[in-house]
Amino acid sequence: MPLANMRDVMRTQKAQGKALGAFSVSSLEMIEGVLRAAEPLGEPVLLQVAQCRLNVTPLALIGPCMLAAARNARVPVCVHLDHGLTLDCVKEALALGFTSVMIDGSTLQDKENIALTRQVMAMARPYGAAVEAEIGVVGRTESGGDQQALGADPAQARQFLAETQVDALAVAIGNAHGVYAGTPKLRFDVLEQLQPVDTPLVLHGGTGISDGDFRRCIRLGMTKINIATATFQAVTLAAQGAPDYFEMAKRMQDAAYAVTMHHLRVFSGEEA
Ligand code: 13P
Repeated sequence: MPLANMRDVMRTQKAQGKALGAFSVSSLEMIEGVLRAAEPLGEPVLLQVAQCRLNVTPLALIGPCMLAAARNARVPVCVHLDHGLTLDCVKEALALGFTSVMIDGSTLQDKENIALTRQVMAMARPYGAAVEAEIGVVGRTESGGDQQALGADPAQARQFLAETQVDALAVAIGNAHGVYAGTPKLRFDVLEQLQPVDTPLVLHGGTGISDGDFRRCIRLGMTKINIATATFQAVTLAAQGAPDYFEMAKRMQDAAYAVTMHHLRVFSGEEA
């Protein structure tokens, strides 16, 4: 199966009332666990790695593993840079063959975020790669930094889309990376005010969101949903007490498989 582009996959998922599951991976066990779940379901999937994680898994090593796994998979697999923060990192991901990149200019003023997003779109164009941008503030940064969640302004989102024509937009709706302190209170009103919206929207901070809220988000245009912490926590827990490395790796892969399987079933509309 050739490597897939999230632009195409999001379009088909959206048309079927589904969302594309986007799973953060930092090891072979996670990559294999994600694909082991996607293949029997026949669901496309996206493998991603965030720039802030590259100090542990350098892009030059994890990137080719993600790409090889995608090329050998029996379902369409997109390979994506999550939360790109610098143009150098975006450039490296594109040169490796990533089929999409996110540029996270959400902490910038609107004008600068728009200019940066356009710059990345120009860089991605020769590769045919898709681009995701973000507006509003998703709670906590991907690397655990403190950051208060702040819903995006729908008018600002519309303006951003008109000025950038970006392929996918992460819209903050009170969601947060990592573990939620209480029950997440998502701002569905922000999504409702955005209707109708053609551009696929992206939900970050998927860990801890209920299946019911995922379904409601999908109905309101969230077409890519990011899961990271749930996998990292499950894999860490599974590794505890393993008698040797190989048993540990197997348990880690099984844990990533279970997290992926659950989420892909919800995102593809399978009833609970
Ligand atoms: P979680 O860590 O909350 O699952 O969020 C994942 C994410 O949004 C990655 O960008």
